[in-house]
Amino acid sequence: MTDTSSAPVSGKPVSDRDRVVIFDTTLRDGEQCPGASMTFEEKLEVAALLDEMGVDVIEAGFPIASIGDFESVAEIARRTKNATIAGLSRAALNDIDRCAEAVKHARRGRIHTFLSTSPVHMKYKLQKQPHEVLEMVVASVTRARNHVEDVEWSSEDGTRTEIDFLCRCVEAAIKAGATTINIPDTVGYTTPAEYQALFRTVIERVPNSDKAIFSVHCHDDLGMAVANSLAGLAGGARQIECTINGIGERAGNAALEEVVMAIETRSDVLPYRSGINTKMLTRASKLVSAVTSFPVQYNKAIVGRNAFAHESGIHQDGMLKHTQTYEIMTPESVGVSKTSLVMGKHSGRAAFRDKLKTMGYELGENALNDAFTRFKDLADRKKVVYDEDIEALVDQGIAAAYD
Ligand code: KIV
Ligand code: ZN
Repeated sequence: MTDTSSAPVSGKPVSDRDRVVIFDTTLRDGEQCPGASMTFEEKLEVAALLDEMGVDVIEAGFPIASIGDFESVAEIARRTKNATIAGLSRAALNDIDRCAEAVKHARRGRIHTFLSTSPVHMKYKLQKQPHEVLEMVVASVTRARNHVEDVEWSSEDGTRTEIDFLCRCVEAAIKAGATTINIPDTVGYTTPAEYQALFRTVIERVPNSDKAIFSVHCHDDLGMAVANSLAGLAGGARQIECTINGIGERAGNAALEEVVMAIETRSDVLPYRSGINTKMLTRASKLVSAVTSFPVQYNKAIVGRNAFAHESGIHQDGMLKHTQTYEIMTPESVGVSKTSLVMGKHSGRAAFRDKLKTMGYELGENALNDAFTRFKDLADRKKVVYDEDIEALVDQGIAAAYD
């Protein structure tokens, strides 16, 4: 693994080689997915929350894409207190100049320029020969460096790029002044072992690779975006590009809350650290879901509404004895006030008794058994039994006792 101790993190030198730069692209790659567009004000609100949460780099948009995108990137750049503000641009020089215009208001601005390097993209999309692509890499990074010191270069479709050509492009980009090198898995095609080896090879082979931070950017087409991102770290990358709730093109991007909590929870095998205040993850998830109108799936890791909910009797009983029986992180650590023991047909007597207690009922053994039988009967007919239902069936029992 390369020693990145002297390389810049977010434009600043760092001495901690295991500090991972969290690069959030909710407002750019996230917003690119069909139906997820946000208004100007919504983007400002999301950016402010990301900044407060400790995101290192916020990719605020694609300034050449529209006047609206330009203005939101510029306004986020003006307002953001801590994070580096990145704008995306293609390799065209006018794209880069427009991006520079938007990020120039930031305390720390970054130009993120990209170009396809895979055979299929070069042949069909760019209709260019490899030597022309290489020239464009040098020209685009040089142009960006004339505007700002913090330049990221991405090899689009990097994981389907021929390795020798990828190394030549990365070498040229670093020589031209790129301070971050991103190798995206644009189509969500790679696997963890392959992605880890790719970073290791490129970092080993490219001269002066220690002059740049290497970055992962994974899409979730095969459901491996988070695993691939973490594997990239093992290969020597130290920046993760991700989005809140994993929103993004097609099946989405690696989810920020998942990579961050994986690092937090499994520091024994993932020896990295991020600067994220994890207690804000649920708030960020809710905000992005509200402004995009994209619901968060119930069983989504970390932020889904079932992530800290238990229904089965065996699990509820275990949880009441010790929370570590069925939870590997605390709900409080991601900003959820408490675990919920959902009452349903799988719930057991221990959870039912605990529920009654929290609702203020202290029943004797017979009354409890009676109420539990009626609860089970009801739970067989209803998906979830709410507090009001329990109240009703306990009251029913009390009334019956006086008949
Ligand atoms: O997926 C991708 O390749 C991208 C690049 C523009 C970085 O989003
Ligand atoms: Zn992408």
